Amino acid sequence: MSENSKIRRPSASERSRVEPFHAMDVLAMANRMIAQGRDVISLCVGEPGVPAPDAVLAAAGIAVEKGKLGYTDAAGTGSFRERIALHYQTHYGVSIDSGRVFATTGSSAGFNLAFLALFDVGDRVAIATPGYPAYRNILRALGLLPVEIETDQSTRWALTADQIRAAHAEAPLRGVLIASPANPSGTMMDATAIKEIVDVCEELGLWMISDEIYHGLTYGDATGIREETALRFSDNLIIINSFSKFYCMTGWRIGWMILPRDLVRPVERIAQSLYISPPELSQIAATAAFEARQQLEQVKDGYKTNRAIMLDALPKLGFADPLPIDGAFYAYASVENLASDSMEFAKKMLEETGVAATPGLDFDPKRGPNYMRFSFAGTQSDIERAMERLGEWEKMSK
Ligand SMILES: Cc1ncc(COP(=O)(O)O)c(C=O)c1O
Repeated sequence: MSENSKIRRPSASERSRVEPFHAMDVLAMANRMIAQGRDVISLCVGEPGVPAPDAVLAAAGIAVEKGKLGYTDAAGTGSFRERIALHYQTHYGVSIDSGRVFATTGSSAGFNLAFLALFDVGDRVAIATPGYPAYRNILRALGLLPVEIETDQSTRWALTADQIRAAHAEAPLRGVLIASPANPSGTMMDATAIKEIVDVCEELGLWMISDEIYHGLTYGDATGIREETALRFSDNLIIINSFSKFYCMTGWRIGWMILPRDLVRPVERIAQSLYISPPELSQIAATAAFEARQQLEQVKDGYKTNRAIMLDALPKLGFADPLPIDGAFYAYASVENLASDSMEFAKKMLEETGVAATPGLDFDPKRGPNYMRFSFAGTQSDIERAMERLGEWEKMSK
């Protein structure tokens, strides 16, 4: 018997038993192939292929040069919060007090803080499937119950007020989380659809959280649907947003929330202990991001071209019925005509073509095996090369 066998120790917590990201298996395989020298085109990642805008890098450079970077208020610096409040005025025409802006370490920290400040263990929170898997996993890790409501083309893949009423009648909900544009679907809710959710939450006494991280990345001229902030319809809800997507700043880990005034203090108390403050360097850099709109619109024009290339190519390759891509940078399409399990299909496709895409299982445990998500956040040449390779593969398999 070894010495170590005498050591007794509890196992990992129940709450840590959230689903892993199954898509990481595909990513790991892609990385192994790259290490072997294979030319892999990854359409997996949900992040811009370009660096942060010049103004952001310049502001960060000056701040680093000065050298002193420290803790800030848990909610962020006054000037950063004011700049975000100004963005609501200039971009949406919605006036808010900067005291309601709360800076976070990416929107991911925003979810932790919002869920902790709004909900107690066992509370039920409605989310849509398909949807961003971290919603479900963070809720579960915090001892909350995600109520996954299936959406389909009949509601343009968005939650409706009737679905929320029905779920609440089954067993009381405490909150509802929506995203528009959404990941992986890319679909958006118009102003009327968002207002209906705001109204039903107020009628039933539920917290509403609106994830607006893909704002800015919308293709309204192609789809007719304009982005709208839920804040236009009520001050009694929580907006979560981030510099990761439109502003091309994933690695800077900086985002924000807009809170009802009486929630600022509860969120602040939790944030002080969980995070102390968001990184000061990222707050300084992100303040400059608002001045880089022109450069960022050019990046978005690139996504728009990529979107058109994919929407043309994917159905011809057998990836059926891509969901309406109103925004974000993903095409989510059915593989039912090609395979019965998108995870196995993704691995085969990667092995035989060197093109990596994300199987749907993470986004939708039930229907995900019939779907794949293709990100078009990369370069046009990568998207074109990937579609060409899939085209040749499709011809060979005939
Ligand atoms: C819908 C959605 N919300 C939130 C996030 C998290 O982003 P971050 O923590 O970088 O702000 C992501 C990342 O992919 C996302 O797709």
